[in-house]
Amino acid sequence: MTTLHSATRTDLAIELDDRHVAHNYAPLPVVAASAEGAWITDVEGRRYLDCLAAYSAVNFGHRNPEIIATAHAQLDTLTLVSRAFHSDRLGPFCAALAGLCGKDMVLPMNSGAEAVESALKVARKWGADIKGVPNAMSNIVVARGNFHGRTTTIISFSDDETARRGFGPYTPGFRSVPFGDTAALAEAVDDHTVAVLLEPIQGEAGIVVPPDDYLPAVRELCTDRGVLMIADEIQAGLARTGRTFACDHWGVVPDMYLLGKALGGGVVPLSAVVADRDVLGVLHPGEHGSTFGGNPLAAAIGTTVVEILRRGEFQRRATELGAHLHMRLGELTDRGVVAVRGKGLWAGVDIDPVHGTGKKISVALAERGVLVKDTHGPTLRFAPPLVITADEIDWAIGQLADVLDG
Ligand SMILES: Cc1ncc(COP(=O)(O)O)c(C=O)c1O
Repeated sequence: MTTLHSATRTDLAIELDDRHVAHNYAPLPVVAASAEGAWITDVEGRRYLDCLAAYSAVNFGHRNPEIIATAHAQLDTLTLVSRAFHSDRLGPFCAALAGLCGKDMVLPMNSGAEAVESALKVARKWGADIKGVPNAMSNIVVARGNFHGRTTTIISFSDDETARRGFGPYTPGFRSVPFGDTAALAEAVDDHTVAVLLEPIQGEAGIVVPPDDYLPAVRELCTDRGVLMIADEIQAGLARTGRTFACDHWGVVPDMYLLGKALGGGVVPLSAVVADRDVLGVLHPGEHGSTFGGNPLAAAIGTTVVEILRRGEFQRRATELGAHLHMRLGELTDRGVVAVRGKGLWAGVDIDPVHGTGKKISVALAERGVLVKDTHGPTLRFAPPLVITADEIDWAIGQLADVLDG
């Protein structure tokens, strides 16, 4: 038998990826072939409980039937016209999403990073046109440990050296302060500050929840100093934490919501900047755009996602099952879990390094049929699709306990 014949489908798929896919990710050795609900099946027919949900893009479950029905219907009618023309899907989507956010207008884009980039441009333009900050002299305050995407401007204000090294020159105009530190933020804001950009709960940093008085204080500071508050809810929002928006936990309404991931229902890339007319109204034809932004297929799917969120079922599931997940993870504190953070069905789990790296534990869990991913060093992230059941959570936690017990 030649080596080729003894290689598994998994081996062959990974080898092909290694040769032809740019190495900007380090995936676990699992090759997905199909998925439904909270479960993924690989090319060998092995089943895995998905506890990552594509970083919250699959909040409503893999191939959610309602979303797939919308996608099928829209595929049969109209998929793309570009923004050179109107479509009968974009207005209803933007009206529904604006309503969900309690805002006037939506700027539809595709990836999360594009929504962030768009918001930065809008904030600068708002600064120039409305606040009267001289062009090219504005600044935007961000938080240390942030993750907002990987474009050149966004990595310019990241403090993750892997994301930055070798990619300079960097975009100027950003100031970074510790997350959760209101005094540092107040100090950084000056007359040329146009916006404060924050994740309400920092995802990639390890599901870091700020002190309870932080976001209300940021809101107050932004209002008092005439600065836009921008909440990046791309990973935290849309039911993940048990509320429609993570900001809702603190009764805070930002000036701009940035949404993505789950907005596309796990089917298409769809992101958005949502704000009132006095903010988004600063954009005029030709100043910003995207060929696929707000395309009819994405808009139809986004409209269904908003309808699903309006019903509140997934927010309730995330609250109830999230309490269960956090309780079960808490029981592992004497078995290798050092700390558990998060809200709703979202948990950052710090593992005692004596049990190995987060990556090593993720691989061991994958071998047992549970898919999670490490974030920083010894931290694992649990973010399953919100269709997961309590029994499935118990089973996944049992697997983690067994891995930690060695
Ligand atoms: C908070 C946050 N903002 C922005 C992004 C970037 O989104 P995308 O990967 O779709 O560009 C991410 C991705 O993980 C994120 O977590």
